[in-house]
Formats: sequence, structure tokens, C-alpha cells
Amino acid sequence: MNQQLFEKVDQYISTLVAPEDTVLQETIQSLEEASMPQISISPTQGKFLQLMLLTCKAKRVLELGTLGAYSTIWITRALPADGKVITVEFDPHHAHIASQNIAKAGLSDQIDLRIGKAMDVLKELIAKGEEPFDFIFIDADKPPYTEYFELALQLSHPGTLIICDNVIREGKVLDENTHDEKVKGVQRFNQMLANHPGITATIMQTVGAKEYDGMAIAIVK
Ligand SMILES: C[S@@+](CC[C@H](N)C(=O)[O-])C[C@H]1O[C@@H](n2cnc3c(N)ncnc32)[C@H](O)[C@@H]1O
Repeated sequence: MNQQLFEKVDQYISTLVAPEDTVLQETIQSLEEASMPQISISPTQGKFLQLMLLTCKAKRVLELGTLGAYSTIWITRALPADGKVITVEFDPHHAHIASQNIAKAGLSDQIDLRIGKAMDVLKELIAKGEEPFDFIFIDADKPPYTEYFELALQLSHPGTLIICDNVIREGKVLDENTHDEKVKGVQRFNQMLANHPGITATIMQTVGAKEYDGMAIAIVK
């Protein structure tokens, strides 16, 4: 694997079609300053999500795993003025930094940041009869991805696009004897995806500025 080349080409692509403005740059910087992990999506992945959002004319979005709101900002910027995002983060420190970044981006009116465990918030949204979402981005803890997806389906309508990040994990997904709970989580998830009658799905391998990984993309039938 030529990681250096992938990074250079990713830089080339992002300079061309996915340049970061100061808000996005400062969001990444804020993670460093707050001692948070640099595990946000890349600019090219942010632009990819925007294209997917535009393709399905998304207005209502659910995101699991906010971190510093880097992906949330990319997502919200692809929505119409009356578009809304609910984003879920269980770490209060991450949520605090995220809400500062959302305010700096001028997007506080469109983004509803919920502090809590993704599983609890999903169940709460279902119990309250929340209107279905047009687009769901799953990027929180990996072991319960299957359960998150099943619950997300209950908050979907035919045509809802569901994208789940980090499902290849540097190819570790091929290791049937793994003891890594994250890898086991995505193996179980990928298998479910392959057999689920209610969706059509694929998995795209991703290389670039981030480590070798992949995104699952599913459309609800
Ligand atoms: C990969 S990061 C999200 C990155 C973000 N989507 C981006 O690209 O900018 C995963 C986030 O999920 C949060 N998280 C982990 N377990 C969670 C849970 N059970 N419920 C909600 N959030 C969780 C972590 O604290 C972390 O901030």
C-alpha cells in the first residue's frame, strides 16, 4: 500500500474540488487544542457526503458520532435553508467543542446536538414518533453498528440513504479470527448488510488522507 501517494492524491483532489474554508480548518485545529482524536472524515469524504445529500435531496439528517462537528458542518452546508440535522455525541467534552464549532459556523439554528448514547437517542426518537430522516450517517462506536442500523431503519422512509463509516478497518475485516471488538462489530454489520431484504447496499473502499478503510452505502427500499 502506498499511503504517501494516496495522501498526495487526496490533497490534489481536495484542493481541486473540496477546499476547506477557515471554519473547517479551525474545527480541525480545535480538536488538537482540546486534546481530541483526529478521527474526523477527510475533506474529500465531506464533499462526497454532500454529493450524496444532494442526490437524495436531503432535508432531514441524523448523524451518530459528532466528535467536533467537522462532518456535521459539511453535511449541514449541503442542506436547504430549512434543512435540519440531529447529531448525537455521548462524550460531553466532545459535545462542548462541537457546539462551539457549530456556533462559529453559524449553523446553530439548523443543528440539534443531542448529548447521549446513540442507542438511547435512537430509541427515544422512535418512541416519540420522530419524522423519518432522508439521510443517516453512522460514525459512532463500531461494536453496535448492526443495532444502530436496524434502529435507523425504523427512522427511515423508502429512498433514505444510510452511510456507515469505517467498515473495512485497514483490511482487518478479512480476519475471521480477530479479537478486535471494532472489527468484529463491522464484520457482523457487513454480513447483515449483505442479507437484509429491506435495503440495497454496497461497500466502497476508501484511501487517502485517512487510513485505508471503507464506507457502507445503503438505500432503503
Ligand atoms: C469517528 S468520531 C466521529 C467523527 C465525526 N463524524 C466527523 O467525521 O467529524 C466518533 C465519535 O462517536 C462518539 N461516540 C462513541 N460512542 C458513542 C455512543 N455510544 N453514542 C454516541 N456517540 C458515541 C465518540 O465520542 C466520537 O466523538
